[in-house]
Amino acid sequence: MDLELRGRTAIVGGATSGLGRASADALAGEGCRLLIWSRDERRLSATAQELRAAHGVDVALVAADAASSDAAATIASAAEAFGQIDIVVTNAGGPPTVDPTSTDPAAWQRSIQLLATTPIELVTRLLPDMRERGWGRVISILSSGIRQPIGDLVYSNAGRSVLAAWLKTTARAIAAEGVTLNGVMPGRIATPRIHELDSGRAERDGSTEEVVRGAHIATIPAGRYGRPEELGALVAFLASERASYLTGQLIAVDGGLIAGL
Ligand SMILES: NC(=O)c1ccc[n+]([C@@H]2O[C@H](COP(=O)([O-])OP(=O)(O)OC[C@H]3O[C@@H](n4cnc5c(N)ncnc54)[C@H](OP(=O)(O)O)[C@@H]3O)[C@@H](O)[C@H]2O)c1
Repeated sequence: MDLELRGRTAIVGGATSGLGRASADALAGEGCRLLIWSRDERRLSATAQELRAAHGVDVALVAADAASSDAAATIASAAEAFGQIDIVVTNAGGPPTVDPTSTDPAAWQRSIQLLATTPIELVTRLLPDMRERGWGRVISILSSGIRQPIGDLVYSNAGRSVLAAWLKTTARAIAAEGVTLNGVMPGRIATPRIHELDSGRAERDGSTEEVVRGAHIATIPAGRYGRPEELGALVAFLASERASYLTGQLIAVDGGLIAGL
């Protein structure tokens, strides 16, 4: 299937690892030019080199911390220098685990900035141009936790729900203009973040990462963690011409983990 993405330009957040990297690979593999961002400039340079070498596309980079209130402005200004932006994949790191009865206001503020305010501000800055041209794709990496809350990740469950509500509302407002907004909800996909969560849980429980992983896998009908490229493939499809009538949707990539309809 030709996704008709050759020559399109995409911004991908958190592109140096895991799901962001897999999204960047999938889009670059379809011939998109990329502007990648995350916090660590050295890792960004190395990733940009690898993407150029693997896919032969232009890759620019900008360092920004999604938990900072100036991140969206920094990325948008790099985007202006890079040229017309067709596709935005919003993604960054996840918030810390916490006992939901012991949250604190400063951590709420940081998590909402990281998971909702920064991606909403970034997309808001890029939307006018997409609407004027009558073509645009916004894809946000969310979490299965917004459908089936994860016990020790309330900052994530709640922060991503804010973004999901904004995506749905905005998708409906501009659906006739050729610009789509959708979310993807990973369940448990093997990345450094999941390794960090599993090893943290093992340490707190006096257990091993293997035991923690086994307990999670027992709740996944597919019987395994996902692979990052299994999410990257969906991101590329949602970015494509083929997904032109698909907007305001939140799609799980979870091996059947979410039990509800
Ligand atoms: N993997 C899963 O199954 C899963 C499930 C549900 C939700 N998620 C969520 O999906 C997102 C991506 O997860 P992942 O598994 O791909 O994680 P990952 O492998 O740890 O990658 C995270 C990426 O985001 C960047 N990043 C981290 N904090 C950032 C910040 N404050 N500002 C800008 N960039 C930042 C990292 O680079 P730097 O550290 O250099 O900034 C890295 O490129 C996370 O929000 C995660 O919580 C993942």
